[in-house]
Amino acid sequence: MAAALGSEAAVEIKDLKKSFDGKDYVLNGIDLEIPKGRITVIIGFSGTGKSVLLKHILGLLKPTSGEIRVLGREIGGMGVEELTRFRQQYGMLFQYAALFDDMSAVDNVVFPIREHRRDLTKEQMRGIAREKLKQSGLDEKHFDKLPAELSGGMRKRVGLARALALDPDLMIYDEPTTGLDPVLTEMVDNLIVSTHNLKQGTTSVVVSHDLYAAFRIGHYIAMLNNGKVLLAGTPQDFLDSEIELVRKFVAKGVHKA
Ligand SMILES: Nc1ncnc2c1ncn2[C@@H]1O[C@H](COP(=O)(O)OP(=O)(O)O)[C@@H](O)[C@H]1O
Ligand SMILES: [Mg+2]
Repeated sequence: MAAALGSEAAVEIKDLKKSFDGKDYVLNGIDLEIPKGRITVIIGFSGTGKSVLLKHILGLLKPTSGEIRVLGREIGGMGVEELTRFRQQYGMLFQYAALFDDMSAVDNVVFPIREHRRDLTKEQMRGIAREKLKQSGLDEKHFDKLPAELSGGMRKRVGLARALALDPDLMIYDEPTTGLDPVLTEMVDNLIVSTHNLKQGTTSVVVSHDLYAAFRIGHYIAMLNNGKVLLAGTPQDFLDSEIELVRKFVAKGVHKA
């Protein structure tokens, strides 16, 4: 399916199943290819397993069965240490970009660099952190402030800068705009696109409950329902779909636009 966009897959998921209790399956046979170098938006109603799917891609949850290949590597069989190293290629931004309250903006971004890049000097680490904050659009005069002294939008920018700290090939966003007002939502959506375009070949995966956002920023959209992929395709495929649930979702999303 990803081949439809002319790119190889950054993430390949085959018949992924996940049950937490051995009875009900939250994921019940997910087949999905996430195209490399593109923005894929995963949509679906609340509670359909979008976050659970992301956690499998991140290797934070183990599948009950099925396969997950990320950037060409099967992650199911990786041990904790290998997975930790592998995850340096990921950047993550969650709904509540949980920053360290007692650290300045710049120190928040230095944190993952210090964890993973022992080869750098303190000054080099701060240099990278400052560069990432600039790329994320935070004004320099805020670099040394604590999160409590920043607005919600600025905190998002710091969270994004921290996610970008290690130059990830794969950026993952879980509902980055949920709970934000329309102005901030648009800012974060734009930031996702500009971040995506920063580095050639970056793959971005954005979970959203908002189809409007999917149409605005997604090259590829996957809709989950009942533990399966109901439809994966281009925005045009979604507009053309005759699947009733997709049509309902689309009607809602387009109406908002
Ligand atoms: N660690 C867990 N243990 C048990 N059930 C879970 C766990 N994480 C998620 N679930 C269940 O999986 C389902 C899907 O959750 P989630 O992926 O968070 O949905 P969403 O699509 O809103 O992100 C929900 O019913 C949730 O309660
Ligand atoms: Mg979720």
